[in-house]
Amino acid sequence: MQYIPGLAGVPATESQISFIDGQEGVLTYRGYDIQELAEYSSFEETTLLLLFGELPDAEALRQFDQQLRENRRVKYNIREIMKNLPTTTHPMHMLQVVVASLASFYPSTEYMKGASDNQEYINDVTVKIIAHMGTLVAMWEHMRNGYDPIEPRKDLTYAENFLYMLNGEEPDKDWARLLDAILILHAEHTINASTFTTMVTGSTLANPCSVISSAIASLSGPLHGGANQKVIEMLEEIGSPENARPYIEKRLADKKVVWGMGHREYKTKDPRASILQKLSNDLLRGKSDQLSHSFATAVEVEKVCEELLGHKGVYPNVDFYSGILYKEMGFDPGLFTPIFAVARSAGWMAHWREQLQNNRIFRPTQIYTGKGNACYLPLDQRG
Ligand code: COA
Repeated sequence: MQYIPGLAGVPATESQISFIDGQEGVLTYRGYDIQELAEYSSFEETTLLLLFGELPDAEALRQFDQQLRENRRVKYNIREIMKNLPTTTHPMHMLQVVVASLASFYPSTEYMKGASDNQEYINDVTVKIIAHMGTLVAMWEHMRNGYDPIEPRKDLTYAENFLYMLNGEEPDKDWARLLDAILILHAEHTINASTFTTMVTGSTLANPCSVISSAIASLSGPLHGGANQKVIEMLEEIGSPENARPYIEKRLADKKVVWGMGHREYKTKDPRASILQKLSNDLLRGKSDQLSHSFATAVEVEKVCEELLGHKGVYPNVDFYSGILYKEMGFDPGLFTPIFAVARSAGWMAHWREQLQNNRIFRPTQIYTGKGNACYLPLDQRG
């Protein structure tokens, strides 16, 4: 038996949901290139594609969109749970707790017995969780600042409603379209840590709310989704493009990672980073005629890293440019990873459903490296 740290390169499942070519920098969802989806699709349509494997016709999309809109509101008691959390609670921890609590409001004993063919429950809970994710994150942004949350609206798209709930004003169409593209780009990414967590927890037939709560916990770490918040903190620390080289050189000499760089699967630039970079560029030029300071610093960091880390196949990943975009959109850094979670709930639900179709509980083995037979000594005889 050979142990492979981090299971790097070890296939953990067969999946039809997404595909990465890490050498060529390609990502497809159900065979569709991410570039095309970011340009032409919507988060709602891409979610349906991920869940069911086909681009929907107009009627199927209208129905699914309507279900998402109908399920945006959260129950009063869920709001009470949120109200009782300390306002210092990080939005990812709030999300983990509150999504887990949804199991009490939307239980299914039948499903828990292993009835993976209970399609009605599976479809309902899929919509409920995806619809609630955006609402919960937007609500908490107000609640943690001491204000009442803003009620969701049914007449807006997913991205528009999220912006409306955050800002309390009619969403700017350009920002909403940009957020839509960001949600599409973050919706799915094969067997990353949080998706693997989804599959492991799902394989025990745990309630899907618990499944997604465990995925949120996994995404919250700085080596995974938490990196986008770290990127912006790093860029602020660097301050200006001229400081990029000495800062990165020192960081590497201190054996610290450069946030937003490197990926287990990509040995070239993450295609999502390229799309986000272009979106940032287009949008920031359109909005302000001059590139923001963080963006200019980021471009310089990328240049220095290409020189110093390119030979290891370490290039910008999706988190490198997403944080900058979020900052330009006026989001608090605490929201960066939760927005990732909102988007990724689509991919998590798709993998949960795929797991159920051919479920076998995950139970890998290990190579024992501990002591041999040990003899139990009573407490008073131990030295
Ligand atoms: N900064 C500096 N060096 C990096 C690096 C980074 N961000 N990412 C990888 N490397 C280096 C490693 O130190 C290692 O160097 P070595 O061969 O001299 O020891 C080499 O590149 C290979 O990296 P490895 O640690 O084996 O990659 P991994 O697949 O185990 O880890 C990540 C992947 C994403 C966890 C890692 O790249 C990382 O920590 N990145 C920063 C966090 C981040 O942005 N996460 C978001 C991912 S979407």
